[in-house]
Amino acid sequence: MPLLQALRRLGQRPTMQDWPGLIEAYRSWLPVSAATPVITLREGATPLIPAPSLSRLIGRGVLVHLKYDGLNPTGSFKDRGMTMAISKAREEGSEAVICASTGNTSAAAAAYARRGGMRAFVLIPDGYVAQGKLAQALLYGAEVLAVKGNFDRALAIVREVADQYPVTLVNSLNPYRLQGQKTAAFEVIDALGDAPDWLCIPVGNAGNISAYWMGFKEYRDAGLSQTLPRMMGFQAEGAAPMVLGHTVEHPDTIATAIRIGNPVNKENALKAQRESQGGFLAVSDAEILEAYKLLGRDEGVFCEPASAASVAGLLKRREEVPANSTVVCVLTGNGLKDPTTAIEHNDSRFHTGLEPDTSVVASVMGF
Ligand code: F0G
Repeated sequence: MPLLQALRRLGQRPTMQDWPGLIEAYRSWLPVSAATPVITLREGATPLIPAPSLSRLIGRGVLVHLKYDGLNPTGSFKDRGMTMAISKAREEGSEAVICASTGNTSAAAAAYARRGGMRAFVLIPDGYVAQGKLAQALLYGAEVLAVKGNFDRALAIVREVADQYPVTLVNSLNPYRLQGQKTAAFEVIDALGDAPDWLCIPVGNAGNISAYWMGFKEYRDAGLSQTLPRMMGFQAEGAAPMVLGHTVEHPDTIATAIRIGNPVNKENALKAQRESQGGFLAVSDAEILEAYKLLGRDEGVFCEPASAASVAGLLKRREEVPANSTVVCVLTGNGLKDPTTAIEHNDSRFHTGLEPDTSVVASVMGF
């Protein structure tokens, strides 16, 4: 029974403090023991938000929900994997962690590592990380190394460094990352009572789609859900190795979070797609931006561009969604991560330089 319902039944008033973070909430599903020092910012328990405008757009009785993982402590789904990876690194006596990142992993790694008393080294593609994410990594006390190359190159370097020096790799090659991230699928089922029919998700390094699939299967195998969703993975057209079936040497997209040409989890992601009879599809930057603006304007949900790829993909494949089905789109990161894109791409009117005068303001308002 979900925690809040259980509390209400006991006559207790639920508060946010009742959520202990995802390791404690899902302890029996995770590779932790009494010896694991749990490093948590009370991540998880993010809302599954009904999306009435999107549901109307798709029509035919389809119900769309948004899994808004941008409400995690550092503003992205990466916190789910990082609470696990950092707790295990600490358990193993590690004093430093390292990752390559398009931004979100670096923010999460920095926050959790520092909280756990470890050093955090983060390699980012120079010039291709959204402002908010860079601000976070710096503020959380990471040592930031910007390399002249893309994410794939940075990850290759990080793997070599972690092989040769005493630092723990916390990219999603670290198996604890996907263990933590699978809890998002548990939460979706806990909220809906069963798995959705479709799960739409942006794909970059292909870890999250693999983690969700693991979570859906574990709950189904334990009898906590009856069905499995079709896993629909969406990539940006200029960075779509899973769609093309080969590495992309020079990935490019406005959705910098998923500007990745050689996903390390591609085998797991292909397995998820095959087993679930799902699919991979590319969406253009223009389609991503349309979905991004629609989410803000019509649903009141501000996500980052990469996250909007899940909704852009759903809209592109809307004809194939079965009537009366339930769809969950994963919104992986918070829109505040990337204020530059929001300011450059919106349909709002922004009147600047106005005289501080009531009649001027009223006339601009159209009165
Ligand atoms: N959405 C956002 C907001 C992301 O930051 C990422 C990945 C993805 C989707 C794709 O998830 O890699 O598991 O397929 N960001 C990584 C990073 C690469 O460094 O923050 P994936």
